Amino acid sequence: MADQLEMLEETDKSLSRRKFIKGVIAGGAATYSAGYLFRTGTVRAQSGAAGSVERLITLNVNGQERRVDVMKQETLATTLRYKLGLTGTKMGCDRAECGSCTVLLDGTTHYSCSVLTHSVRGRAVTTIEGLADADGTLHPVQQAVVDGAGFQCAFCAPGFIMSMVAMVDANQSPTRAEAAQALSGNLCRCCDYNKILDCAMSAADYTRGV
Ligand code: FES
Ligand code: FES
Repeated sequence: MADQLEMLEETDKSLSRRKFIKGVIAGGAATYSAGYLFRTGTVRAQSGAAGSVERLITLNVNGQERRVDVMKQETLATTLRYKLGLTGTKMGCDRAECGSCTVLLDGTTHYSCSVLTHSVRGRAVTTIEGLADADGTLHPVQQAVVDGAGFQCAFCAPGFIMSMVAMVDANQSPTRAEAAQALSGNLCRCCDYNKILDCAMSAADYTRGV
């Protein structure tokens, strides 16, 4: 009888322990879910805490001041495409390899997939949408690309065009080798490099008004 009572006690303990573990897992999951469901409010509430980053920031994009809600780990490509609707900036590799996300920061080419949005506050961001004049007149580089029909699928075109713009801003009379160097951070999956280089040379001509 004593043995049976001891066994029952052990079974009880084991059940209680199982219940306890189950409770912890369920509780943890519930806590996590609650955090997920209410994270917006939580983050906003924490925005003034030490070490936190202000989320509502102002960016200078294509000459305009844009207010946007940005997470601290968000990349510029994500902000441009999904928060500001500037989908001309393409995302290919999303890890600084292909150049399809190239934009200008203060006139210099950068891979926007690998730049944190918070780090560009106070800098001038230029995307492909910011090249043409307000009346729709294309930038000389854009016009050269249109006239040269230098791309096949054109997924890579915005990135190449931004690199060409930086190139002609720095050097309006590049050699073909210098143009190739200026575009070396951009990849074209259709391998249309010769025609793209032709366009880059025309872009320099158009910029000089030749
Ligand atoms: S998407 Fe940024 S380098 Fe490829
Ligand atoms: S034209 Fe297709 S990726 Fe360049």
